[in-house]
Amino acid sequence: MVRAGIVCHKIYYENELIERALKERGLEVKRLDPRKVLVEVGRKEVLLDGSWMGFDVVLSRVERGVLLEGYRLLKHFEAVGIPVINKADAVLLCQDKFLTYVALRREGVKVPRTFLAYEKEPLNFVDLEEAVFKPVVGGKGMGVRKGRVNEVDLDAMGSCVQEFLPIGGRDSRCLVVGGEVVGAIERIARPGEWRTNIALGAVACPYRVDRELEELCLKCCEVVGLDVAGVDVGEVDGERYVFEVNPTPLFKGLMQACRINPAEKIADLVVKRCRG
Ligand SMILES: Nc1ncnc2c1ncn2[C@@H]1O[C@H](COP(=O)(O)OP(=O)(O)O)[C@@H](O)[C@H]1O
Ligand SMILES: [Mg+2]
Repeated sequence: MVRAGIVCHKIYYENELIERALKERGLEVKRLDPRKVLVEVGRKEVLLDGSWMGFDVVLSRVERGVLLEGYRLLKHFEAVGIPVINKADAVLLCQDKFLTYVALRREGVKVPRTFLAYEKEPLNFVDLEEAVFKPVVGGKGMGVRKGRVNEVDLDAMGSCVQEFLPIGGRDSRCLVVGGEVVGAIERIARPGEWRTNIALGAVACPYRVDRELEELCLKCCEVVGLDVAGVDVGEVDGERYVFEVNPTPLFKGLMQACRINPAEKIADLVVKRCRG
């Protein structure tokens, strides 16, 4: 029997769906909490619940809360030759917004004009009227604020300070699995809110992806090296800007809006990869 490991710390609805889809395909599935498994350098099997187990394929659902622990475990699996979906380096890169912007911009993908700052003082030299502040590592819109450039406190771990793009409280989220956009939504911010995160009350509507958006999303995934990703794109005057490429996308909103189950696509990809 093919054994698949899902590296995750929390039990999300999405992870349960993926687990179910894998089991339906005949795989044995184990959750690998990176804080709970014992790893020996160079050894294929890891100790889980008191016994050493080997895996044929590993899927990353590493959350921000266990980023480094998850990264180490994925790196280990890669090093002993196990196929890993969402490679460790790509997961680490994309949980860091600054590194993501650097990588995308280098390959010609438009991103908001962005500064990296740890302290306020240097921001006096930044020529932005209205700025968006976001923790370098963050999600769900938490800690994403707007204000005059030197009036907002910075995150201790570093903040991306960006131009505010007038996207009108709307953006698109495309879910990419194995080089294919499997679903997309438009996210419309809650009245009075400018951030379009579902976690902040935005509503999701099905979204028709044109060729240009599809190519942009696939390019983003290729640049950062992700197999599974949620790509957030804002549009201003016909120009598209990438806000983030999420390496552990939640997709409940997209599922409900588009009436598809992305877990099936992810499971198909996992099966394909372990066959080489
Ligand atoms: N530079 C920006 N201009 C306008 N809106 C932005 C900008 N950056 C982020 N937003 C809004 O805030 C939301 C959250 O920002 P994002 O960078 O995706 O952080 P998070 O990881 O917390 O979701 C985006 O989906 C978008 O609606
Ligand atoms: Mg986001």
